[in-house]
Amino acid sequence: MSGATAAEGAIRCWRLQGPATVAGSVQVPGDKSISHRALLLGAMARGATEIRGLLQGEDCRATVAALRALGVEIVESPDGTVRVQGRGPEAWREPDSSLDAGNSGTTLRLLAGLVAGRPFFSLLTGDDSLRRRPMRRVVDPLRAMGATVLGRAEGGFAPLAIRGGGLRGVAWSSPVASAQVKSAILLAGLQAAGETRVTEPLQSRDHTERMLCAFGAAPRRDGTAVAVTGGARLTATALAVPGDLSSAAFLLVAAAARDGGAIRVRDVGVNPTRTGLLDVLERMGAEVRRERLRLEAGEPVADLIVEGRRLRGVPIGADLIPRLIDEVPALAVAAALADGETVISGAGELRVKEVDRVSAVAEELGRMGAAITPTRDGLRIQGNATLRGAAVSSRGDHRMAMSLAVAALFADGETVIRDVACANTSFPGFARVLADAAPGCVIREETADA
Ligand code: S3P
Repeated sequence: MSGATAAEGAIRCWRLQGPATVAGSVQVPGDKSISHRALLLGAMARGATEIRGLLQGEDCRATVAALRALGVEIVESPDGTVRVQGRGPEAWREPDSSLDAGNSGTTLRLLAGLVAGRPFFSLLTGDDSLRRRPMRRVVDPLRAMGATVLGRAEGGFAPLAIRGGGLRGVAWSSPVASAQVKSAILLAGLQAAGETRVTEPLQSRDHTERMLCAFGAAPRRDGTAVAVTGGARLTATALAVPGDLSSAAFLLVAAAARDGGAIRVRDVGVNPTRTGLLDVLERMGAEVRRERLRLEAGEPVADLIVEGRRLRGVPIGADLIPRLIDEVPALAVAAALADGETVISGAGELRVKEVDRVSAVAEELGRMGAAITPTRDGLRIQGNATLRGAAVSSRGDHRMAMSLAVAALFADGETVIRDVACANTSFPGFARVLADAAPGCVIREETADA
């Protein structure tokens, strides 16, 4: 990469000079969802859980800090292995300060489920973005299980004050397909009396259920419902975290959307509840292959190979959304470059992510020449866009920052992306990986605001 100027944490903006083709073989950091769960279940288990490939992004650091505040010992070795010394939830102590989830919805919501089982007081909070995100979806079921939960707007928003313990199992029907909601309820359910069952309108990612099996618990699945029995003992285990498909997505889209683009991303998690992007890229006309497919701690892992073609727009409906929700900003870039129109619907959840991603995608890609109309629950994207370099902003959203960088590879002239430090929440080193894969693109990281 030319011109990297400062330590990653201080980077404020990226300047990219396109256009450039992506090629080669890369690796992406560990899966964010799996990393959080490895830490949390390790803390619930008895014994030492050894985690290889844990994501070192800021979101997972927030989970580590919160668990340490509960008295859990977590040791990081120089080789990157992380050891969680679990002594069961009974060993946790009341934290003497608030638990700060930073930008991480997964940390805050799963932690809420965890501490709801404990007979002490916890205060959970996060950054400006997280304190605007809806919390009733976890507060209501935890209250129904017997926890006392207070928060702003009747428990609608963090900070959340939780006094837990004495939980009873519940049969909860969640109005949204959300792995964070489901997992929070299951983590509380493991500490409740009797059975806890969660039903979702569509199945969300199932990493919690798979990992519970690796820890020796036996969640029961029945269609879109899953149940656990309270008091199940978790036993420490060794885990290898695969690469994050949601991080690979930026490179896969960059390769897929140009005839002649090609990329191999090694060791990526290909859990079917996460692979909607691969299905859509194939339907749009890209070549997608999985090689070296194997199972690690119950999670399918593979090398992903994507070859680019002239793509065509496709409809993306509600049934697919839980399987690609985090990939919509990247997918929007491919759709803008494809022939014809792409309509994404049933994706109202995009409006309550780190930022309102419906507006952010339409407006920021719009500055680069894409014609994207926001709808109530999705996006209408006109294809055949001619993208041009522009001054754009991530709005503090990691996936927006990286999607705009992908768009810059297809734009003539310079693109300046402001507010990019947030990429560290899920993909530390993203600019370097992109620069290696797209040597024709000059990427400069700068410490000053553009
Ligand atoms: C996640 C679940 C999804 C996803 C988020 C990570 C998880 O959120 O968007 O990035 O790790 O459980 P929802 O549960 O809100 O759909």
